Amino acid sequence: MSRAWVEAAGAIPGLDLVGLVDVRQEAAENLAAERKLTKALIGTDLDTVLAQSGANILFVCSIPEAHLPNILTGLRRGCHVLTEKPLAATMPEARTLERAAQRASRTVAVMQNYRYGRGIRSLKKFLATGKIGRITSIDAEFYRGCHFGGFREAMDHVLLLDMGIHPFDMARFLAGASPLAVQAQEWNPSNSWYRHGASASAFFEFEEGVTFNYRGSWCSQGFDTEWNGSWRILGEKGCVRWDGAAKIEAEVVAGKTGFTWPKKPMQVPLLDEKPFSHAHTVVMREFIRCLNSDRVPETVITDNIRSLAMVHGAIASARKQRRVLLP
Ligand SMILES: NC(=O)c1ccc[n+]([C@@H]2O[C@H](COP(=O)([O-])OP(=O)(O)OC[C@H]3O[C@@H](n4cnc5c(N)ncnc54)[C@H](O)[C@@H]3O)[C@@H](O)[C@H]2O)c1
Repeated sequence: MSRAWVEAAGAIPGLDLVGLVDVRQEAAENLAAERKLTKALIGTDLDTVLAQSGANILFVCSIPEAHLPNILTGLRRGCHVLTEKPLAATMPEARTLERAAQRASRTVAVMQNYRYGRGIRSLKKFLATGKIGRITSIDAEFYRGCHFGGFREAMDHVLLLDMGIHPFDMARFLAGASPLAVQAQEWNPSNSWYRHGASASAFFEFEEGVTFNYRGSWCSQGFDTEWNGSWRILGEKGCVRWDGAAKIEAEVVAGKTGFTWPKKPMQVPLLDEKPFSHAHTVVMREFIRCLNSDRVPETVITDNIRSLAMVHGAIASARKQRRVLLP
């Protein structure tokens, strides 16, 4: 993912990449050579590179287990931090980071790029018009068969822990409400090439009776959904569907007669594509703008920790085989 970050950083005027760190030196060197980052310091020790480069912002795109130590190092060096999702590998680690950011008076935010796409932003804008009424339920499904290799195939809870954060964060964004409880299942289908938990379902209860029903698999064969997943949102007066790409369609009640009431289709305008052309750039640019104007990014740690709580709540529910209340 560091490639996407370097590409994003290159599109932001005034932002200089002054160092690249990887525990495998050759990975940082290869990236620097590939992107012609001739001036960037290269190293395997983050603290040293931060000290020598004088960086004031740290971008963390290492593996999830390394987010905690890397973000803490950045905060100790006085950096603001934008990190890849998930914020941290566990909830206690996330709370440690929340306290450390507060103590250091530095902004820590998360690359939650899926909530910054053109489709979801268009959908959110349409929901705010109230045309389908108050949201009652959100359904999302995600089906893809991805051969990643690497850490994902060896980890536990792969779908919920590595990918679940995106749809769960998107649901929270769309609902505009806090999740209260979850009941989940996870399993590894017989054809799975992952070690654990390639498929899952999770049913969340939000404030004011809103529900979110998620189903997904990372080893499904055929009829892939888009990376964003496929979404259906029910409101008191109608329904909107999003295919995860550029197709958003709505139907609203047009009369109150008959066995099933008549509906009329409703146009859902798509926002202009240009500002959303590379989601990592959108998130990074917004992060920098916030730092420069004393605004708080949407995905700041104090907010994003609630999406992470959905992930860990779902994992706990699946393990305990019962409904779990969310903090
Ligand atoms: N936002 C998204 O859409 C998205 C998509 C894919 C991955 N990710 C996230 O990006 C992160 C990296 O995933 P990836 O697929 O690029 O993994 P990867 O395994 O391809 O690359 C991770 C890199 O981190 C390096 N590394 C490991 N420990 C380190 C440490 N302590 N300090 C510095 N570098 C270290 C590894 O050597 C490797 O080069 C993960 O947090 C993942 O969840 C986000």
